[in-house]
Amino acid sequence: MRFTDEFIRRVMEANNVVDIISQYTQLKPSGGGLMGRCPFPDHQEKTPSFSVSEHKQVYHCFGCHKSGNLITFLRDYHGYSFPEAVEWLAKRASIPMPEKDVRSSAEDAAAAKRKKLFEVNRLALQFFAEQLKRTRADHYSRQYIAKRGLTEETVEAFQIGFAPREWDGLLAFLISKNVPPALAEEARLIVARKDGKSGHFDMFRDRLMFPILNTMGEAVAFGGRVLNPEDNPKYLNSPETPVFEKKKVLYGLHQTARYIRSDDLAVIVEGYMDAVSLYQAGVKNVAAVMSSSLTPEQARLLKRMTRNVVMLLDGDNAGVDGAERSLPILLQGDLYPKGVFLPDNMDPDDFVKSQGVEALRELLDRAQDLLFVVLDRWMENYRGEPPEKLKLVDKLKPVLNGIADRRLRELYLQEIARRLNVQLPWLRQALDGSAAAGPDRVMSGPRGIDPRRGPAVSPPRGGAVSGPLAAEEKGSQIILKGAPSAELTAMALSLKSRANFEIFARESVFDWFAHEGVRKILLEAQTVYGQDQERFDRLSSLLVSTVDQPGLLFAREPSGPKGPEEVDTELEVKWLRDALRRVREMHLRGQLQKLRAELARDPSPEKLESLANLQKDISSLTKG
Ligand code: UTP
Ligand code: MN
Repeated sequence: MRFTDEFIRRVMEANNVVDIISQYTQLKPSGGGLMGRCPFPDHQEKTPSFSVSEHKQVYHCFGCHKSGNLITFLRDYHGYSFPEAVEWLAKRASIPMPEKDVRSSAEDAAAAKRKKLFEVNRLALQFFAEQLKRTRADHYSRQYIAKRGLTEETVEAFQIGFAPREWDGLLAFLISKNVPPALAEEARLIVARKDGKSGHFDMFRDRLMFPILNTMGEAVAFGGRVLNPEDNPKYLNSPETPVFEKKKVLYGLHQTARYIRSDDLAVIVEGYMDAVSLYQAGVKNVAAVMSSSLTPEQARLLKRMTRNVVMLLDGDNAGVDGAERSLPILLQGDLYPKGVFLPDNMDPDDFVKSQGVEALRELLDRAQDLLFVVLDRWMENYRGEPPEKLKLVDKLKPVLNGIADRRLRELYLQEIARRLNVQLPWLRQALDGSAAAGPDRVMSGPRGIDPRRGPAVSPPRGGAVSGPLAAEEKGSQIILKGAPSAELTAMALSLKSRANFEIFARESVFDWFAHEGVRKILLEAQTVYGQDQERFDRLSSLLVSTVDQPGLLFAREPSGPKGPEEVDTELEVKWLRDALRRVREMHLRGQLQKLRAELARDPSPEKLESLANLQKDISSLTKG
């Protein structure tokens, strides 16, 4: 969904930062504004240092220096993406979502269907939770929960429930709420009877129910664990539905996104119980893949919150498999994956229960780069013979060639060369010469720009609030209106990730940008990038209230088959380079025009030569 600036502004205006933040911390008048204790979990404080300005609709913590507006708050606290935050705020203010320009009736119907399915799932979640609450303490469902060591608080946090034994418990409840059975069937909560009989029965019976939520906290599916060890399968999971695409969801993330962001680290486990158990033990920056390896979509989801991922792997073969399959996906997703195997065939839940949380933390601290964890396994019976080296290089090839960050790739190559005891140039060649040379050449035109002549870096500003909010406070709005689209695309993509910004910075292209507003933002980005990279990750959101057209801060890639939220890094880099090329072309054409005008007045040989050079540059650029 793309939003117009008008819509974003309306949504921001319809919500009050004070109302929303008050739900997370108690705010009291103090001085001219409101103060409370910092609501972010990484900043536990006794005396309030978190200030909220109703007037400016921003917050700032004097203790941990987090600051921003409603959108950054939702992003940092719940891990919402920009469109999700806008959608959530719009819903909250009862502002209908904008109509798409061209929207077929089929799309309308699909959207209406999804809405209904969310509602059915919500009712089911409520039903299962209610069933558990109603049972007596000696009921076997409660006893099972006690046996697994789950506290009331944890059950509450994950909205764990109980599906009763009878055949139509949920069905009857849903009917009482006027849900048509066909809809509940489509939500895969009930199943139509076969053997010629009409009617339906509950899909989940006599199971402990783990609701699977999307990042916005809506129930999209369920996992149900058997209580009777004789039943099969151990976990029954909802099949995919129009609201549940398994590859796009990580279990627990709605509850844990804020911890992942504040710890700047995600611990990934393989089971519902593992996630819940670690959370309860105090390792709250956790999420679970559900009986499959990590997907590129899940990697992208994580990257919104952190680049640091530790895979907590079962020591068995399945764990090794999972590590091998996740490795290239995490690296391609531009994340920094680490991995650690649990000893003695324990899973994370077993481990934390038997060894304690401190032992677990120690294990996590010791986690090594996943690449080397995997390589160590591959080299278990390694004897250093040449054919073995070749085999290893072939296995490593797809992994290494997918690494988005060239510098990281280079460091890995050096370490691998050392471990295999081969020369670095040989390794590069063995990994395929052209790919190994990297994709970085495209931009270096003839006479490249001096890399040392980057954008002028403004000195760090003093005072508690620096960066975009300072601009906001001075009331100086940055105008993006009228900026050329290539400059806007290049700017938005550069802001989108550190990796992208590094491309921008490396090419030292600042001088090519003509538009005043774009230049201001890029300067701000350069400053923030140099001072505080975490802050940089949030920069586009932080700038929202500073610019005239906030929507322009967010990259609008041509939406391919995958849709705008799911652009892969490689493609994104291509778009960035392409946009930069266009910016450069415009810059050169501008110079050409100026030179032509000057030549008309003063046809000196030097100017003629510059003209020829410029034309050469432009034609080499357009040739690609
Ligand atoms: P495990 O079998 O390792 O279960 O499956 P677990 O997480 O240790 O669960 P407990 O401790 O016995 O309760 C790991 C994950 O694989 C999926 C589930 O997502 C589970 O959490 N799984 C497992 C299924 O989907 N179906 C199954 O029958 C078993
Ligand atoms: Mn287990």
